[in-house]
Amino acid sequence: MTNKLIIFDTTLRDGEQSPGVTLSADEKVTIARQLARLGVDVIEAGFPVASPGDFKAVQRIAREVGPQMEGREGEGRVNAPVIVCALARSTRNDIQTAFDAIRDAPRHRIHLFLATSDIHLEHKLKISRDECAARIAEMVAFAKSLCADVEFSPEDAGRSDREFLTRALAVAISAGATTLNIPDTVGYNTPQQYGDLIRYLRANTEGADSVVWSVHCHDDLGLATANSLAGVSNGARQVEVAVNGIGERAGNTSLEEVVMNVHTHPHVYPVHHTINTKLLFSTSRMVEDLSGMVVQPNKAIVGRNAFLHESGIHQDGVLKNKQTYEIIRPEDVGVTTNNIALGKHSGRHAIRTKLDDLGYASLTDAQFQAAFVKFKALADSKKSGVTDGDLHALVADVRSSG
Ligand code: KIV
Ligand code: ZN
Repeated sequence: MTNKLIIFDTTLRDGEQSPGVTLSADEKVTIARQLARLGVDVIEAGFPVASPGDFKAVQRIAREVGPQMEGREGEGRVNAPVIVCALARSTRNDIQTAFDAIRDAPRHRIHLFLATSDIHLEHKLKISRDECAARIAEMVAFAKSLCADVEFSPEDAGRSDREFLTRALAVAISAGATTLNIPDTVGYNTPQQYGDLIRYLRANTEGADSVVWSVHCHDDLGLATANSLAGVSNGARQVEVAVNGIGERAGNTSLEEVVMNVHTHPHVYPVHHTINTKLLFSTSRMVEDLSGMVVQPNKAIVGRNAFLHESGIHQDGVLKNKQTYEIIRPEDVGVTTNNIALGKHSGRHAIRTKLDDLGYASLTDAQFQAAFVKFKALADSKKSGVTDGDLHALVADVRSSG
């Protein structure tokens, strides 16, 4: 088994399924470019059959971001183009449409799914277990006839019967699946249960050693990151994540939390990743900005308070030695402690650089100009200097006034 942890980012697919979030094609391409620079291994770009707009956005990502090497080369980096992936239900039309959208990317993957839990089989799909297994065999084989890289997900695996699950997964392997993803679709499992499930499936599924095992957890009980890490401890080598943990209902596993956990505890998780952690903060801000999903201030790693110390005792400790109250160096995740003092003397270059660092690289020239004018007015009236918080408010203001 390899020790490379494959980071599969689903911000643009499961993340975009967050209630109230719709990204334009331009916004999806902007985020995809940033994800490629960040160093993710796989971008799940969307669900092409869902709408002509999503098909086009996925196709643009395949064509424009698929070949991108900028930010990916060098020691400790991925050194390969990103794999562009599209989701499909287990039907010929979905699979063909997904393939048509991604085929122009130098590296591409079809991800198909079919539910395996009795509750989904009986009430949603209205098919028997035998029919489910037969459909997996047929649809995985069809996907394989189009594309060498095929991922299969038994939806609601977290509540599926384990014996049936091993049967369904063995069928997917013999039909050509190369990655098996185990979704805890409704965020029902505990870390103990989910880790145990991954171990059980790896030990009991025929052909298990020939595929990559992947985890996909939802946060309904606030356990998505813990469950994903339990999966890694039990042999999973792909983690499906979204920036800021956005996604259906309570969301997906958060990319930045998984990455910084394995980064901080190399002896607990004997895996390596190729994420440029210094881009985590700006990526988080970009996704917050374009998706409109506000990051809670106390969110681990990327929340505005994640590296702020309020109590006198903590402040005193940090001033003496940062390690007294900091387990991660803020600069390692791209949080810069204002080394440029922003004030009325600051010029356009300093402000543009600062806004880029804060994740606003997508501001148009006109928006930047409006932001710069507002910045000067604020700097004139504020003795204590302009803070990152002021800049976030200022950009929100510019965007809301069109
Ligand atoms: O949560 C889920 O089951 C999914 C699948 C489509 C992988 O998102
Ligand atoms: Zn999901």
